[in-house]
Amino acid sequence: MSSGWSGNYHMNYTSTPIAGVKRPRNDSGNKVTVVLGAQWGDEGKGKVVDLLATESDIVCRCQGGNNAGHTVVVDGKEYDFHLLPSGIINPKTISFIGNGVVIHLPGLFQEGDKNEKKGKGCLKGWDKRLVISDRAHIVFDFHQAVDGLLEAQRQEQEGTNIGTTKKGIGPTYSSKVSRTGLRICDLLADFKDFSVRFKNLAHQYQSMFPTLEIDMETELRRLKEYAERIRPMVQDGVYFMYEAIHGPPKKILVEGANAALLDIDFGTYPFVTSSNCTVGGVCTGLGVPPVNVGDVYGVVKAYTTRVGIGAFPTEQLNAVGELLQTRGHEVGVTTGRKRRCGWLDLVILRYAHMLNGFTALALTKLDILDVLDEIKVGVAYKLNGKRIPYFPANMEVLQKVVVEYETLPGWKSDTTAARKWEDLPPKAQNYIRFVENHVGVPIKWVGVGKSRESMIQMF
Ligand code: GDP
Ligand code: IMO
Ligand code: MG
Repeated sequence: MSSGWSGNYHMNYTSTPIAGVKRPRNDSGNKVTVVLGAQWGDEGKGKVVDLLATESDIVCRCQGGNNAGHTVVVDGKEYDFHLLPSGIINPKTISFIGNGVVIHLPGLFQEGDKNEKKGKGCLKGWDKRLVISDRAHIVFDFHQAVDGLLEAQRQEQEGTNIGTTKKGIGPTYSSKVSRTGLRICDLLADFKDFSVRFKNLAHQYQSMFPTLEIDMETELRRLKEYAERIRPMVQDGVYFMYEAIHGPPKKILVEGANAALLDIDFGTYPFVTSSNCTVGGVCTGLGVPPVNVGDVYGVVKAYTTRVGIGAFPTEQLNAVGELLQTRGHEVGVTTGRKRRCGWLDLVILRYAHMLNGFTALALTKLDILDVLDEIKVGVAYKLNGKRIPYFPANMEVLQKVVVEYETLPGWKSDTTAARKWEDLPPKAQNYIRFVENHVGVPIKWVGVGKSRESMIQMF
């Protein structure tokens, strides 16, 4: 059956609902499995996605852009993904970039081409395995320049900035919300119309920032070339996902970018990113009904890190923080900035669970704690000497909380060769059970190294 689509890119859908034919409520189709960051990002989502992607048919990104930096290590080779779903590394999976993602086209191709040159060619033909939603918004070079200008303005006016990745994420989502943004479908339609709207948007930004230089003709020429390169990849994302869910059985995986505490609504605002990195972003960023969301896996680093500015109650500005930073190689994949480090914070994990309804957790980087005599875990926040039963919305309040810690004994032995639960020292097992009990979510995987193999599956 044809979808009746009359756009200028071709597709054929078989599962489009037929008017008047109602599906029974319980015939909800395939479920999507979701992987989300439970802290401030860089928890090891790339590695968890890679593990699950080996058995997935489709791997999707639903939000964010190339502010994300996800690392996958296969056969000793390290690949970094920013905009491409990490599942692209698996030649059997289709990767999908949904409508909720903001796409910088030069960045997309640089990333694909760079990774294609690495390893044993598992990224060969990556562009043939990629589907892009026609509703996704485009990040222009001037959005990235404006990101930098806004940061400088914040610094000057407020004495602090956000510490963004300067990938144009905030300005592009601002264009989207103010309804002046341009989408992939606009780029592939009438290029004259597109050029007019592009110039109008560019002029708007130039009136806000008189120093902003934009070489419109050069950027438009490049965009025209990119349009032809992506045309074969672009589909109506809503119908693509509907087909994936209601067609033959398929394993569909969603790779969250950024993390719960960076969520535009629920994170440590204003020191957040500009998209919903919690589970709601899966529905709005892909066009997936909530009934089709299946397992939601939260990825948790065995301690806490944060890149950029903002409150961080369990941060350790001391030898412990330095040790975690050095042993954990805590340097941002996207910006190369040192990550701030501190103890695990169960208050934020419980908060992230309230928002996402995790069905299980992946606890990564346990091996980084191997050398510690004792390990602290933040279990509650106090304000004016009293425990508070919530995670504060206001940043000034969050800056003031005093963290209540529990101290657990370190195991002081190398866990990197552990491949099953019994291989872990009892004190490490105790740490894992402590986290599980205090968050109230089972831990399904424990990471003890960078590679695919160094992930202990618990059940
Ligand atoms: P993401 O943004 O959540 O995908 O995480 P990043 O890739 O930005 O950062 C996680 C870093 O930790 C990467 O360098 C991973 O290779 C590494 N990593 C992931 N899991 C483990 C683990 O269990 N142990 C160790 N030592 N490194 C890990
Ligand atoms: P992954 O997917 C860590 C942070 C930035 C900054 C704030 C806003 O690798 O976990 P933005 O450029 O999004 O406007 O920056 O959000 N940030 C991340 N920190 N990991 C990420 O992604 C991040 N994505 C954004 O450092 O503080
Ligand atoms: Mg990262």
